[in-house]
Amino acid sequence: MQKYFFGNWKTYQSLYMVKKFIKDFQSDQSFLQGLHNRFVGIAASYEHLYFLQKKLEKNSCFIGAQDCSQFSQGPYTGQVSIQSLQEMNITFCIIGHSEARTYLGQSYEQIALKFRALIAAGISPILCIGETLREKEEGKTLQVLFDQLEIILGLLHGYSGDLKVFIAYEPVYAIGTGILPNKKDLQEVFYFLKNLREQLSIAKSIALLYGGSVSSLNVFDLQNIDGVSGFLIGKSSIDFQELKKIVES
Ligand code: PGA
Repeated sequence: MQKYFFGNWKTYQSLYMVKKFIKDFQSDQSFLQGLHNRFVGIAASYEHLYFLQKKLEKNSCFIGAQDCSQFSQGPYTGQVSIQSLQEMNITFCIIGHSEARTYLGQSYEQIALKFRALIAAGISPILCIGETLREKEEGKTLQVLFDQLEIILGLLHGYSGDLKVFIAYEPVYAIGTGILPNKKDLQEVFYFLKNLREQLSIAKSIALLYGGSVSSLNVFDLQNIDGVSGFLIGKSSIDFQELKKIVES
C-alpha cells in the first residue's frame, strides 16, 4: 500500500535552508531510488514554492502549499489564489491547519470553500482536523472531529473521486509539543474516521494521515495504527536527514 509523507515547513525555512535541503535531497540517490510506493511531499511557504517546484519536480518530491485563498482573482490583498498555485504546478495544499484556524480565525465554511475550490482546480486538499486538550479532556474528541468534517462530507458526496483527498488528524495538543496521543485514543479516532469514509462512494480516494510531533523515534509505532496511510510532519521535516529516517522507517 502507498504511504504518504508530507512535510509541513510552516515558516521555519530561510532560502539558504531550502537550498541546502534541495542539495541534500538530490544528492541522495539511494534514498530516491528506494522510494517506490512511498510518496514524499513538502508544503513550503508561498515564496519558496516556485523555486522548489522547479528544482524538485524531476525528483519524485511533490510540492504543496500550506494554505490558499477561497477567492479566485480579484481585490483580495494578501491572499494567494488557487489559480496561482495551478500555474506553479502545485499538486497539494494544506487547509484547516489548527494554526490557521487559531491565528487567522478561519471558519468551517471558509475552509469548505477552499476545499471545494481546490478539488475543482485538481489540487489535492490535505484537510487538517483535531481537538484541543480541553476538548479531549471533556470527552468531546469525536464530536469536534465530526463538526470539522460535516460540511466537507456533504461536499464529498457529490465528488467524482478522481483526485486523492487527504484528511489529517492532528490533535492540537500534539502539534509541536512532543506529546503524542496514546495508542488506544488514536485507534478510536482512526476507527471513527475509517467508518465515516466507508459511508462515501469515493472512499478509496480518501487517505487518512496522522500529524503532531511525528519524528524518526515514534513513527514506527504510529505506522501500526489501523487506517493511518501516512503522516503530516512539521518540525521533523525541515532537516533532510531526519525526514529521510522517517520515510525509510
Ligand atoms: P509538528 O507539526 O510535527 O511540528 O508537531 C505538525 C503540523 O503542524 O502539521
